[in-house]
Amino acid sequence: MSGALERVVVRAPGKINLSLHVGGVDGRGYHALATVFQAVDLYETVTATRADEMSLEITSEVPGEVPLDGTNLALRAAELLRTECGVRDAAALHVRKQVPVAGGMAGGSADAAAVLVALDRLWGLGLGAEALRTLGARLGADVPFSMLGHTALGRGNGADLTTVLTHGEWTWLLAVPGGHLSTPEVFRRFDELVLAGGRVPPERPEIDERQLQALSGGNLELLADTLHNDLQAAAFALHPRLEEVVEAAERLGAIGAIVSGSGPTVAALVEDEAAARTIAAGLTEDGLVESCLIARGSAPGASVLEES
Ligand code: C5P
Repeated sequence: MSGALERVVVRAPGKINLSLHVGGVDGRGYHALATVFQAVDLYETVTATRADEMSLEITSEVPGEVPLDGTNLALRAAELLRTECGVRDAAALHVRKQVPVAGGMAGGSADAAAVLVALDRLWGLGLGAEALRTLGARLGADVPFSMLGHTALGRGNGADLTTVLTHGEWTWLLAVPGGHLSTPEVFRRFDELVLAGGRVPPERPEIDERQLQALSGGNLELLADTLHNDLQAAAFALHPRLEEVVEAAERLGAIGAIVSGSGPTVAALVEDEAAARTIAAGLTEDGLVESCLIARGSAPGASVLEES
């Protein structure tokens, strides 16, 4: 076939949630959210090469086990595209991981986002960004954001996105404590805590307008002040040492620290890389973390790096 591509390389970013307000549950079991996502420059890089059958190989720069079976989001993304578009072609997928595994930073969603973009190109489907985001939303609430990138407000289950204006760059220390948290389990514990506290979650949660001001004005202190995660108490309840990590990061000099998404990665907002390194050294010395990563936000969404 003339002009057909043999190989496409796409990278997609991980994210943190600068705020996460959780409301009631809808008919599909999803909670209504109002969240501000920020993509950071830790990327999942997918290389898709034409092949006779589908296969998946993973090279990881971060600790943690990734399933290679049918539950893997990269493979599910490929299958979804084949079914939806009646594709008979196949591809060998290679994923290089930089985003902490099962850490609340949407690494699996970034894999799915990168695969959708890569195979759309490789197989010449021409679906375009919006259709790919709609397909991505069927794989997970965070997939569309990994395609869009930068900083965005997420509503609904997190997949209805509006880009947020930002000024400047933000430096994050990402503290990865040992252990994983399951997103559905954290949401379940959130429901239990709400029930036990006799609270009624809002039908339509709202974000803090001051956070948008902090982002558009490049105001570090105000951003730190508005970091918020309704899932944090549930994550603390399920991960015994997590609260200590957040407290220690702040004590060691973070301007603010928060559990990212459903955790357990802790995102600490810092002045600069030197501050990040000092805090990382302190957390490591105290035996509170498995690893620490330094990242900058915002980062662009899923994009093609190479094709041939
Ligand atoms: O969409 P994703 O695969 O990330 O979600 C995993 C699980 O987390 C969902 O099946 C649901 O139990 C929970 N969840 C939720 N509300 C959301 C997003 C996820 O309850 N907005």
